[in-house]
Amino acid sequence: MIKEATNIYPMHDLLKKRWSPRAFSDLPVEKEKIRSLLEAARWSPSAANMQPWRFMIGFKGDNTYEKIFDTLAEGNKVWVHLCPVLMLVVGKNVINDTNEHYSVFKYDVGQSVAHLTFQAMELGLMVHQMSGFDPLKSTEHFGIPSKFEPLTVLAVGYIGEVDRLPENLKVRELSQRSRNEFSDFVFMNTFGETSSVLSENL
Ligand SMILES: Cc1cc2nc3c(=O)[nH]c(=O)nc-3n(C[C@H](O)[C@H](O)[C@H](O)COP(=O)(O)O)c2cc1C
Repeated sequence: MIKEATNIYPMHDLLKKRWSPRAFSDLPVEKEKIRSLLEAARWSPSAANMQPWRFMIGFKGDNTYEKIFDTLAEGNKVWVHLCPVLMLVVGKNVINDTNEHYSVFKYDVGQSVAHLTFQAMELGLMVHQMSGFDPLKSTEHFGIPSKFEPLTVLAVGYIGEVDRLPENLKVRELSQRSRNEFSDFVFMNTFGETSSVLSENL
């Protein structure tokens, strides 16, 4: 299934084609592809090159997968069970082992996931990020130290048939994707005033 962005201005084809599917295929994902995804995340930029991202990787049938799956919200479990690979994304929340709060670590971890997602698209894979999971349960399941914070879970796999989903999710899977207008988020002069970079072109 294809749910391309209805973009106004040109953008990279892989970004246009990215979306967050729920109907994944049973097809296993090649380990070398997973390694490429992690390489892309590894080369993401980060504040002071702190590289605060950590990934727990589970393949369907293994213990890590089961533990990650167990942390998911029920609304996610109903479709995630179709997906062959789960990743728990964890961020390191302190700098240089002092107690100084490293406030941009979530920004950095999110960016590493963006890199991973772009690489996934290049390899024919899809990524669906989730915050609908229990971080405390993840911490217990994996013995995650207190300096680290579970942030999201990623479902990774090949796209599957919509018919694999329960009826209510089929409707969501087939629905239009939407985005804010540029004027809602591109400003000049004062916060909230639309930038002329947009009107010049429209
Ligand atoms: C941080 C984050 C958390 C999300 N959590 C969930 C989730 O728990 N369950 C879910 O089905 N989708 C989740 N999503 C997917 C979003 O709903 C989706 O990205 C958004 O609706 C835009 O759709 P698109 O990715 O297809 O463009 C999450 C996405 C992000 C980035």
